[in-house]
Formats: sequence, C-alpha cells, structure tokens
Amino acid sequence: MRFDDRLDPLLEEIAEKIINCTRCPLAEGRINAVPGEGPQHASMMFIGEAPGAKEDETGRPFVGQSGQLMTDIMKDVGIAREEVFITSILKCRPPENRNPDPDEVRACAPFVLAQLDSISPIVTVTLGNAAYDLFSSTFYLPKRKVGEVHGKVFRLHSTGARYLMPTYHPAGLLYNRKLIPEFRKDLETALKYLGMRP
Ligand code: URA
Repeated sequence: MRFDDRLDPLLEEIAEKIINCTRCPLAEGRINAVPGEGPQHASMMFIGEAPGAKEDETGRPFVGQSGQLMTDIMKDVGIAREEVFITSILKCRPPENRNPDPDEVRACAPFVLAQLDSISPIVTVTLGNAAYDLFSSTFYLPKRKVGEVHGKVFRLHSTGARYLMPTYHPAGLLYNRKLIPEFRKDLETALKYLGMRP
C-alpha cells in the first residue's frame, strides 16, 4: 500500500457512500447509483456528466451508445478502458436525461472530488460542459465553453491530480460526428501528458 492511500479514503469506501447516498432527490428515482469504475492507481481519470438509462440499469459508467463510441476512440489512440478511472459528476440518473440541476451538482460534487483525491491521477479529462464547469469553478480555471477550451491542458496546483484537460462529451460526438477527429486529437494530447509527471 502506498503511503498516500491512508490520507484519502479508498475508492471502495467512496463507492459505498455513493451507493447509500440520499443527499438529493435523484436517489429516489434510481435503479442503481453509478460510482464509476477503474483501478485505484489509474493515471488517467475521465469525468462525464451523469448516468443515462443503461448506466442506471447496470450501475456502470459509460456503457450506452456514447460510452461505446468513447471506448472505441480510446482504444484507437491506445488508452485501455480498464486502465483508466471513468465516472461522472452526478452518480444518479436525472429523469429523462435532463441537464444536472445546480443543487444536484452541489450535493454530488464531494464524491467526484474525493475520487480525484483518492486516485490522484496524472491527467484528468473532463467530458462536456457540465464536468468542466464544476472543475473550472473548483480549481479557478478559465470559465469557458468546452468548444473554446477543449484540448488545452491546465496544471492543477492545489491537488495531487496534476493536469486537467477538457474535451467534448461523447454524446455530442454522436450528434456531430465532425467533432470525432478533434476528440481523438484531444485524447492524444492527454496521453502525451502522462509521460510528463511534474
Ligand atoms: N454520460 C455520462 O456523462 N456519464 C455516463 O456514465 C454515461 C453517459
């Protein structure tokens, strides 16, 4: 066990809290909470918006159509899904897949931030506007839309998580396939930073 494992809760302990969470009304409508999956010592972490129907059914992140597309592109650029940690800022599905409401983000954010501290990945990739909005306000990064900041890599000074790179949400790629090459290029950029442990 690494020394820092004892400073932050382990992923399983955080997952347990997520599974039993009743901090917001989304808990009432869920089939399953979706804590996320991947190794404790992942060097990359991917953070989306919220579980959809398939994720709610299975309790696993990014297993629907957009998750399949993301998994395929990851594989193409040389990122093995089972070696990275994948989660979302909300752990329960909003009804009809509506956008997360600010109160839900406030209630759920401590979980994703605890996961970030626990894993301490070298590179964190936020997927879409909702995830980038949470991280830009938490870490004082530029307040911009993903279309303007995707592929830019920011240093996170205040955490053990060293770099953050926003990119598009894979659901957006399903609607606008022209974004796929940009998404792929962003993942290649993120991969380069893995070798640049500060
Ligand atoms: N979209 C997300 O943001 N997260 C999931 O787990 C699935 C789809």
